[in-house]
Amino acid sequence: QAKVEVDLATIPEGKNVIIKWRGKPVFIRHRTADEIKDAENTDWQKLRDPQPDSDRVQKPEWLIMLGVCTHLGCVPIGEAGDFGGWFCPCHGSHYDISGRARKGPAPLNLEIPAYDFAEDNQVVIG
Ligand code: FES
Repeated sequence: QAKVEVDLATIPEGKNVIIKWRGKPVFIRHRTADEIKDAENTDWQKLRDPQPDSDRVQKPEWLIMLGVCTHLGCVPIGEAGDFGGWFCPCHGSHYDISGRARKGPAPLNLEIPAYDFAEDNQVVIG
């Protein structure tokens, strides 16, 4: 379907949830205060796909992105890798807690889908 509604109240802080949207996995992470600080304090200008965390989230505690590795499309694993985010086991790409490509062959950050916060505890993806 074109849009998917997700109830964020069911996702505790520090947890990942994966939903399906248009046949693709979407990662939703409820970031902790430390993770937000880490994401915001990264020297992003030096990254291969330079992007500040603020361009990748609407609310700092909710990171929402496609779970499709930008190298060749595998699904990265959460809470893994050298940068506190995701790791793609196919060819060893590491993503940080903002989903930015940090190491390995992935050329770009994990893609951010269109979404809107409908009410406080609800997000509509698509
Ligand atoms: Fe993820 Fe190659 S598909 S590293």
